[in-house]
Amino acid sequence: MNTGAWTGPVRFWMKRCMTVRGFSVDRPRLVLGIETSCDETGAAVLDENGVILGESLHSQKQTHLDAGGIIPTVAQRLHKENISRVVQEALSRSSIEPCELTAVATTVKPGLALSLGIGLEFSLKFARLHEKPFIPIHHMEAHALTVRMLHPVDFPFLVLLVSGGHSLLALAKGIDEFLLLGQSLDEAAGDTLDKIARRLSLRNHPECSTLSGGQAIELLAKEGNRLEFHFRSPMGQLFDCNFSFAGLRNQVTMAIIKKEKEEGVETGQLLSCVKDIAAAAQHTVASHIAKRTHRAILFCKAKGLLPHHNPTLVLSGGVASNEYIRQTVKIITDATGMQLVCPPSKFCTDNGVMIAWNGIERLKHGKGILSHAEEVYYEPKAPLGLDITAEVKEAAIKVPPLKLRLNS
Ligand code: KG4
Ligand code: ZN
Repeated sequence: MNTGAWTGPVRFWMKRCMTVRGFSVDRPRLVLGIETSCDETGAAVLDENGVILGESLHSQKQTHLDAGGIIPTVAQRLHKENISRVVQEALSRSSIEPCELTAVATTVKPGLALSLGIGLEFSLKFARLHEKPFIPIHHMEAHALTVRMLHPVDFPFLVLLVSGGHSLLALAKGIDEFLLLGQSLDEAAGDTLDKIARRLSLRNHPECSTLSGGQAIELLAKEGNRLEFHFRSPMGQLFDCNFSFAGLRNQVTMAIIKKEKEEGVETGQLLSCVKDIAAAAQHTVASHIAKRTHRAILFCKAKGLLPHHNPTLVLSGGVASNEYIRQTVKIITDATGMQLVCPPSKFCTDNGVMIAWNGIERLKHGKGILSHAEEVYYEPKAPLGLDITAEVKEAAIKVPPLKLRLNS
């Protein structure tokens, strides 16, 4: 019987039935992935071909948006309240019993200590109860590799991860082999956008009340004129691939304070020029990201670190959903002969699927699988791969000027 026309749970159920009836069919291995490193409680069951059999996600975003930021104890409580249900939902949507799983994979680093702790404690209990191997997962490695579930991207490839917690450039050489080329020296791009949005009181804008800061800025920027404000691109005199967003946020805050005085606007009220500020801030974030990425590409090419055939840049993380930032990065990849691959937004943000997929990759390569989940600890801080940022800085590669203007 050909099961190719069937997908998801139906296809899997057929395979199981055939096995029960004595057909010799290879049963795909299954991994349950669990994510709780920040503000999403996620779980998913994947087979080794990358078919998502079932998933569930509980987002805490609205709670944190209402509170004006993530309060770790609140995040911990919400993970605790939801994890059991989320895992149960992922399993039942998959029509999978725990005994049918091959392994359990869970984020153990990096992230908020209190959040990581809930996922790890639950997962270890679950793995012990059902006598399953446990696969500890590095959250950033999972972000970097998710693309391989969707596209045939071979190693080595370049990765640009921009989210609320991280901004980094790395070379992915293998499933557990990364070279860190650059990272944020202060705050992450998404964090900056969130803080600017809060300072602009965008929660009080009728179209933005349920959006994350980054989403609100992207929406308003579409109708703004970025030329009304000029913010300097950060780190222009530093020839490395690190990022810095705190200084830019300061520039934006100063401009907001000036305008508030001019317009006599009080805290919580919206400035008349919010769209222009959003457009200018978004443009400066995009061009900073693009320029550091340009240098990373030139560095990798100069050192022979990228393949000649189809060199690829993968762009992921929550901020990668931003179409303006994607298009600005595309200008760089087009100019340097790179293929740009962006997973769909759903897979750029935190979820159980990306963790399960990383578990599958590790299972296939027999790497990092613990047969007895005894002594496993979480690590709130965990760098991605081997840090070669100093070598990148020493190379001091000058980036040729490129027109990074998408409009106006
Ligand atoms: O990856 P993610 O869901 O969570 C982590 O930070 O790990 O990313 C969330 C971040 C937030 O800072 C949010 O404002 C930002 O991604 N973000 C965006 C957009 N959508 C989400 N930033 C810019 N443009 C967007 N469309
Ligand atoms: Zn993330």
